[in-house]
Formats: sequence, structure tokens, C-alpha cells
Amino acid sequence: MRTAPENWRPDSWKAFTAAQQPLYDDPAHVQEVIRRIRSWPPLVYPGEVKQLRRELALASERRRFILQGGDCAEKFSDCNRESITAKLKILLQMSVILCYASKRPIIKIGRIAGQYGKPRSNLTEEVRGCQIHSYRGDNINAFEPDAEARKPDPERLAQGQQIAAMTLNYIRALSAGGFADLHHPDHWNLNFLSRAPHREQYEATISSIHKAIGFVESIGYRDASSSKIDFYTSHEGLILALEEAMTSLHTDGAYYNHGAHMLWIGDRTRQVNGAHAEYFRGIENPVGIKVGPSSSPEEISELIHIINPSNEAGRIMLITRFGCEAVQDFLPAMIEQISSARQKVCWSCDPMHGNIIKTKNGIKTRDFNAILAELKRTFEIHKQLRSYLGAVHFELTGEDVTECTGGAEGITDQDLSTNYESFCDPRLNYSQSLEMAFLIAQML
Ligand code: PEP
Ligand code: CO
Repeated sequence: MRTAPENWRPDSWKAFTAAQQPLYDDPAHVQEVIRRIRSWPPLVYPGEVKQLRRELALASERRRFILQGGDCAEKFSDCNRESITAKLKILLQMSVILCYASKRPIIKIGRIAGQYGKPRSNLTEEVRGCQIHSYRGDNINAFEPDAEARKPDPERLAQGQQIAAMTLNYIRALSAGGFADLHHPDHWNLNFLSRAPHREQYEATISSIHKAIGFVESIGYRDASSSKIDFYTSHEGLILALEEAMTSLHTDGAYYNHGAHMLWIGDRTRQVNGAHAEYFRGIENPVGIKVGPSSSPEEISELIHIINPSNEAGRIMLITRFGCEAVQDFLPAMIEQISSARQKVCWSCDPMHGNIIKTKNGIKTRDFNAILAELKRTFEIHKQLRSYLGAVHFELTGEDVTECTGGAEGITDQDLSTNYESFCDPRLNYSQSLEMAFLIAQML
């Protein structure tokens, strides 16, 4: 039997200061929505959460590699066949390349089926001379730049929960029903290859993967690429009233968040004495912690101790996001602190959030080479310090958007407006994501 930590309840976070929470006009309405959500069935089962913890523990022992990715902010309108299929497809295809290179099973975690709430640096923005609420994710308000549409609406929380359920339902169908066949290289769109600088190496990798699949099938696994796949969901655990509503006591004596397999604490809400730390210390799910340049090693170490006092493997994923310029200044001290405190973590690199820039026209973008540079440096630093990078974390989509510059397709600042769909941070598109997987494969 497990037990919940002392003095913890799903609502004990309310006694602490909670950063980045929406302020609603009608608290009674919020309570009514939360009651409704609480009465609905869970999205995930504790057995799946425990399985992911075991995988994370194996990843910190170099026996797994984790690929986490998806939108910065999922939109409710993304809940359709094409969008879900495209996201699953790119993650599966990347995972085949990574699996081949790392010779380890790849654990796939989507930023999907619940990634609807966003922390913001600025709570308001100026539109036509007026200050209105910033967009904070479809769970909170609408993107439309209009004062009324931007008001936080509690009904969106319930809508988000239903949309997450529909999204996950289709992911489960695809995962179990043979769709994984699409991770076979025959299904890859490799048009970008003709312009890729490492074209020959990529082609050699693809041909080796073909041969490996052919071999496995020839010795009796009839369809090596289409067996059932494991896929896990994750989102930032931001809106604590919502996370509380998705928290329940399991028969094993512990509390689980049943809205996602894994949740993470954002860089803006990881205060050691804050409400997020309090909420997260009580749930059994694996917890990601985003670690940016404003965090000190001591502070992160203390936060890990609060959330994982018995130092269990598979509980904490530390997701560093320093930026390609700053990673050398911050990561070594962070690794040294965690190693000397003997804290068990799975290290992950998010090379997206420290590399956001604005073009001359004020468009938010990220350059492919900066993303790649942070990843390379992160791999090298871990290696030098005898630590292990067990995961990578991307904002990406399976569609042909133009949000990040660079890559073999050579997207420029001028191209960004062609198909910029993100409501929040810019994502790697299909080709950029596949190319990134080939480049990570070389680092592995
Ligand atoms: C995010 O992952 O979209 C995000 C906001 O990250 P961070 O908390 O690291 O800034
Ligand atoms: Co983001």
C-alpha cells in the first residue's frame, strides 16, 4: 500500500500562493463546472501511470530514450481526425529513427489531449489602443483579439475536458488498431531530403531501418512495424482547480491525476513555497519540472526534495531550457548539484523555450540551428559530466506550417506568414521534425 504525503489533500494547494491562475468573474460558476468535471470518468488509469514511471526510471538508467512533443498550445479545433493523425504520425516516425540510432526502446509522450492552458509573461496586451487579457489557452479564453472573447470563461474547462477525452479516444484507437504501420519508412514524406545537407547519411539510415524491419519480419514477426504501440499523454499542470478535479484516491492508497499520464510544472510556476509545488507533491504521476535560466541549482534541488522526498526513480523529469547561448553557463552547475545530492532524475532537454526570437516584423519564431545547437551542447555537457540525457522535448506538429525558420527547406523570416497557425509558440513542421530526428540520431 502507498499513502498520500502527510498534511496533503487534493485541495491543500489552496493555502499557498498560486501563480498564473485565471481570475473568473463568477466563482460559483467555476465551482459548478469543477463539480461536473469531477463526476466524469478518468482519462487514464493508474496502471498506465505506474508503467510510465517504470519507463522513466529505465530512461534514467540509460535503458530507454524518451521523445516528448506536440503543440505549445493545443487548440480545441485541433480535435479532428487529420490533426490527431498527423501529430501521432510524426512522433512515431521520429521514434523509429531514434530507436534505430539509440538501440533502445523509445517512450513516446505527447503534449496532447489536455495541453490547453498557457502561462504568460504579460497578463494583458494592447489591441487597437486598449489593454485586453492575453490569450491563455483554449481552456481559459478565446484567441480572437477582442476584450469580451478574452474574458476567462469557466465553461471552457468542461469543454476542454470533453475534447481531451475525444482526442485520447482516437489516439488509443490508432495506437491499438494498426495505424503504427505508418512508422514504416514507406510512409515517410522525404521530399525535404533533396535539399538536406546530410542527405546521404539520412538515406543510409532509412535503408538500414528498412533492412532491420525486413529482417525482424523474416524471422517470424509478421508485421514488425505495426504492432500495438504505447503512447502517453502529458500537459502543463497549470490550472490547479482543474487538476484538483482530476485527482482521485486509488485502491492502492495513493492519489493519481487521471487527466494525463504525466504532468509538468512550468518555469513560471515552480516556486518552492508555491501552490504548484504543494499540489504536485501529492500525486503519483511522473512530474516534469521546467528549468530555465532564472532557477538556481539549490532551488531546483529543494523542489525535487519536496516532490520526491523518498528519492524514487521514475518520479521526476528535469526538463532544461536554457537557450543555446546560456546552456553552457547554467547546465553544468545544475547537473553537479543534482548529482552531488544523489537525486534520481531523468534529464530532458527542451531546446525550444530558451530560443524564442522576434523577427523585424514582430513575428515570434525559433531558428532550427539554435534549437539544434542547444541540443548538441546539452548532450555534450551531460557526457562530460558522466550524466545521461534520457529525453528530448519539442514543440512540433505533423503539418506543413511555417513557424520556425531554417531546416533543409530553408524557411526564411519572409516565409513565416505563409502558414503560421500557432496561437502561442512556433513549432517545428513535419520536415523540420523528421530532419531533427535524423540529427539527434547522429548525436546518439
Ligand atoms: C511550454 O512548455 O509551453 C512552456 C510555457 O514552457 P516553460 O514553462 O519552460 O516556459
Ligand atoms: Co511553448
